[in-house]
Amino acid sequence: MYLFMAISLLFLCFIFFIYKSHLQKRNQNCYLLGYECYKAPDDLKLDTETCGKLILRNKNLGSDQYKFLLRTMVNAGIGEETYGPRNVIDGTEETPNLSDSLSEVDDIVFGTLDKLFDNNGVSPSEIDILVITISMITSVPSLLARVINRYKMRDDVKVFNLSGMGCSASVIAVDLVHHLFKTYMNSFAVIVSSESLIPNWYRGNERSMMLPNILFRLGGCSLLLTNKSSMKHKSLMKLKLSVRFHGGASDEAYQSCTRVEDSQGYCGFSLSKSLPQAAAKAVTMNFRVLLPKTLPLRELVRYATVSFLHSKTNNNKGKTPSLNMKSGFQHFCIHPGGRAVIDAMGRSLGLNEYDLEPTRMALHRFGNTSAAGIWYVLSYMEAKKRLKKGDRILMISLGAGFKCNNCVWEIMKDAMDDVNVWKDCISRYPVKSTANTSFLEKYSWVNELELQPELNKKIDKIKN
Ligand SMILES: *[C@@H]1O[C@H](CO)[C@@H](O)[C@H](O)[C@H]1NC(C)=O
Repeated sequence: MYLFMAISLLFLCFIFFIYKSHLQKRNQNCYLLGYECYKAPDDLKLDTETCGKLILRNKNLGSDQYKFLLRTMVNAGIGEETYGPRNVIDGTEETPNLSDSLSEVDDIVFGTLDKLFDNNGVSPSEIDILVITISMITSVPSLLARVINRYKMRDDVKVFNLSGMGCSASVIAVDLVHHLFKTYMNSFAVIVSSESLIPNWYRGNERSMMLPNILFRLGGCSLLLTNKSSMKHKSLMKLKLSVRFHGGASDEAYQSCTRVEDSQGYCGFSLSKSLPQAAAKAVTMNFRVLLPKTLPLRELVRYATVSFLHSKTNNNKGKTPSLNMKSGFQHFCIHPGGRAVIDAMGRSLGLNEYDLEPTRMALHRFGNTSAAGIWYVLSYMEAKKRLKKGDRILMISLGAGFKCNNCVWEIMKDAMDDVNVWKDCISRYPVKSTANTSFLEKYSWVNELELQPELNKKIDKIKN
């Protein structure tokens, strides 16, 4: 009798254990149901004309800095149609105020969320988890509270404000939601990523600190995620893996991108010479975890064999063997941080121009939109009808810290081909060259000018 009871108990335990592990597995799913990128109104476009005037009206700049800025702009990979902050367009960037700053963020956050809820048929009251990643602005009550108040969301919504996390914050948020889904079953999660530009425009004249003004542009995105298995058939993509690397323990990496005050007291980003190295190391360290889990075994075996032979025969001379990234992924969503980053990433990953096109074009059309950037890249892939069911996408994001956060998605939908934010311009893309020739034509004189008085004459002419 006792034996029978003991066996029954054991059996029940066994069943319970199987059921529990099944439940756990089911809840580890993380599906992307939809996403919306922000498109600013046309009157916020920062074209050659506006940009030139903007540079010229900064009284802190000398002729060297004008030349540097204009030349950099020509080669930055930024086109004629990116969107800038309203105070810069209006010419009031010297005196930003809080109400303008918050209304900029509201436009982006509410603009994308309105569409996200509408297009996916999900009501704000159904949202269980809300994450906002906007690095450079805080408000009281929090940005999360602004969203909860506007949409009258439930009082038990779990909210997380990730500020100061930089350009890779969107992937950090995805990773966070992925982990939360293991605890909160049957949930909807919303992530909003953007950057606040109005209070953060650099007004000084340090060369290294002026770059962000050229690269950073207005943008943002909202994502809708779920772990409900009943929504699987409606999902666009399924998260396969997310890996985070933080290199902040190294002083060099930590100091490679910092927000500081210059000698005149103007706040801005200081990018050090060790930045490319810190970035390369962060990517390598992240891949050490990510690639063994995602590339096919035969590719890992091939790489190990070739590397071993190479070290035996070549005494480390000749071309070092590399992993074939295409064996595991069909698409590469790289953070459109700037032309140099994209070039470097392409070289080190062995990618061709076709692979880099979505990132280059996202930078050209929308600029560096910080944490939202990779979603404009994804949107380009969709608009160009590149995405097929079963394809895998590798998202690579980099940010100050120095951090590299990556994730891998699998396409769940047969036709993922919404043109979305690219609607008015996709037919013009890809552009052949991302060098801004219209800048070149208009400002070719900066290369010839050496003397300050002559420059001033030109400047006066343009200003009037
Ligand atoms: C903030 O600045 C704008 C101009 O950019 C101005 O119209 C507005 O009145 C200012 N708001 C406050 C509260 O000062």
